[in-house]
Amino acid sequence: MSVVITGIGELVTNDPELGLLRDAAVVVESGVVAWVGSATTAPDADERIDVEGRAVVPGFVDSHAHLVFAGDRAAEFEARMSGVPYDGGGIASTVAATRQASDDELRARLRALLAEMRAQGTTTVEVKSGYGLTVEDETRCLRLAAEVTPETTFLGAHVVPAEYRGRADEYVALVTGPMLAACAPHARWVDVFCEPGSAHAFDGDQARTVLQAGRAAGLELRVHANQLTAGPGVQLAVELGAASADHCTHLTDADVDALADGTTVATLLPGVEFSTRSPYPDARRLLDAGIALALATDCNPGSCFTSSMAFCIALAVREMRMTPAEALWAATAGGAAALRRTDVGHLAPGARADLAVLDAPSYLHLAYRPGVPLVRALELPRV
Ligand code: NIG
Ligand code: FE
Repeated sequence: MSVVITGIGELVTNDPELGLLRDAAVVVESGVVAWVGSATTAPDADERIDVEGRAVVPGFVDSHAHLVFAGDRAAEFEARMSGVPYDGGGIASTVAATRQASDDELRARLRALLAEMRAQGTTTVEVKSGYGLTVEDETRCLRLAAEVTPETTFLGAHVVPAEYRGRADEYVALVTGPMLAACAPHARWVDVFCEPGSAHAFDGDQARTVLQAGRAAGLELRVHANQLTAGPGVQLAVELGAASADHCTHLTDADVDALADGTTVATLLPGVEFSTRSPYPDARRLLDAGIALALATDCNPGSCFTSSMAFCIALAVREMRMTPAEALWAATAGGAAALRRTDVGHLAPGARADLAVLDAPSYLHLAYRPGVPLVRALELPRV
């Protein structure tokens, strides 16, 4: 069984050879892209979908999201908009609500958010734990995440939970001992909120301990780094060969040099700066240094409760001066790089047939028409 998607007014492939095509078609076989080219030369297929001049882009790869939680923090957002700064302290209230929630409640919320993302063009998503912070609750959050994505991340070291206040090292021992042992079978990645200045998160030594233990348990590394201040997170991520350093809001020259010399992707989360009313990361400084960038939502109930990659693209263009092409690349191929995936984030023969279609003639409309629900994942017949 095969399907040809034709009538594509503009096709972004992210493939260095194919580039951007007009009046294009894509043939899909068994869920994989089999052919890409001009609509006039497209081979026949069993089924045909005509998108009538719309633009098609690779489905978004949202490489940073916290979707297993209960409750909301709208009141915290309201207070923040009146001047209360974000410091991660509100995470504790989500932890309390998540511990109280049943599996079914968490699952329903998770699936609703995923459906919301898919309806907005996201076809790959990473999901973190981090609101359980007990062996049992972290394990069940990851078990639920693993029902919906292979990109599951153990974030037991999100914050020091209330019952361990003042005993962060003891909590790190729990995270790197029994919690990691229980969670590793359900996780691909390990992550840590490295923010030494914060009363809630972890310093560089603790973060290193968590990441090294995770690696020893077979997990790959990603880091919440340099969100609130210029701490050790970014250089630690690069030194340990993490796939991604996420946030990168406050960077020193040495941080930028380290990223430029290393293989770690810098994942920018401008929805967080929007929702915490903070200065945006300096994307141009990173791009000018030749650093690979990803864009992700960081969808979570505290620092940024958006599921919209298109919104993040608009912010990246308007607020971080990325070009529309750079922003779309970061939201697709960049996200794939941050997850070390070669099968998504681009549309060329052999890639997964994850396509997003815009009710617009060009991908430029993602940033040009902010807030307008133009983009959705293209649902294909089972081929
Ligand atoms: O990526 N910085 C730490 N973690 C999340 C926020 C989680 C929350 O506020 O609930 C983040 O911004
Ligand atoms: Fe996060």
